[in-house]
Formats: sequence, C-alpha cells, structure tokens
Amino acid sequence: MLSVALLPHLNAILNAIAGCFLLAGFVFIKSGNSSAHRLCMISALIVSGLFLISYVTLRFYTPIFVFQGEGLIKIFYYILLVSHVLLAMAIVPLVLFTVLRAFKERFAAHKKIARWTWPIWMYVSVSGILVYLMLYQLYPLKTAQLM
Ligand code: HEM
Repeated sequence: MLSVALLPHLNAILNAIAGCFLLAGFVFIKSGNSSAHRLCMISALIVSGLFLISYVTLRFYTPIFVFQGEGLIKIFYYILLVSHVLLAMAIVPLVLFTVLRAFKERFAAHKKIARWTWPIWMYVSVSGILVYLMLYQLYPLKTAQLM
C-alpha cells in the first residue's frame, strides 16, 4: 500500500513530469506543431491535477516541516517557498483562462495570456522541485516540528 511518507517523493516526480510536458509543449508550439502542443498541455494539466490531489492528501496527514538549514540558505529557502506558494495560487485561474481560450479557439487571446501563464507555471514547477530537494534531500529533518 502507498505510504504517506512516499507522497513528497511522488509529488516531486509529478511536478517534474508536469515541467517536462510544459517544456515540450512550448517547443512544439514554437515549431508549429499545435496538436502536439495541445496534447502536452492537457497532459501537464492532468499531471498537475494528480499532484494537487497527492499534495492535499499529504497536507491532511502530515504537518508542514521547518527547514533545517541555517543562515543565507534559510533565507533563500523561505524566499523560494513563499514565491512558490503565492504563484502556485495565482496559476490556477491563469491556467483555466488560458485553456478556456484555447478550447474556444480564441488563439490570439490564448497566446496573449499564455505568455504569462507558461513562465509562471514553469517557475512553480521548478521551484517546487527545488523546495523538495532542499527540504527532503539536502537538509533532511532530524525531528518533525509543527510550523
Ligand atoms: C494551460 C495550458 C496552455 C499553455 C500554458 C499554453 C501556452 C502557449 C504558449 C506559450 C503559446 C505560444 C505563445 C507565443 O508564441 O508567444 C501557445 C500558443 C498556442 N496554443 Fe497554447 N497553451 C496551453 C493550452 C493549449 C491548448 C489546450 C490548445 C489547443 C486546444 C492550445 C493551442 C495553441 C495554439 C493553436 C497556439 C498558437 C497560437 C497562435 O500562434 O496564434 N494551447 N500556447
């Protein structure tokens, strides 16, 4: 059975997969392949949806852990974490509007908003992986603490 302890690793993997789909989708649209672009972006959406379910499950069962590093790395970690969380919230309506415009075939409007959606979504994906690496791999917890 899937243990809750595995969820942070699963989340990081889902995040990385979503980032790969985003990158591939960008490369495809820049080379004029709009059907491959659509497939990649819908895949990124599905994987991000799975991530959200897994993330909410993790938060339900475990506390938010305090970062174990000290000094400059701690400041860097919290700047990264706060920017990641704020932009992760902002990206939800942005993604919905971007996809809606594409499905309505309003591609000029889609392109306009996508120029914001794509880099922000990519930042959220990459910063999510960095937060995971710093919290669980580079500075692993000695004791679990509530924030
Ligand atoms: C949230 C998901 C999506 C994101 C982040 C996204 C992102 C982008 C980006 C960055 C561009 C290129 C803009 C530029 O050239 O500067 C683009 C163009 C385009 N996208 Fe998407 N896209 C998404 C979903 C979709 C979907 C689902 C479809 C198809 C139904 C689609 C169809 C297109 C088309 C046809 C273009 C070319 C528009 C043109 O050049 O006039 N996109 N998209």
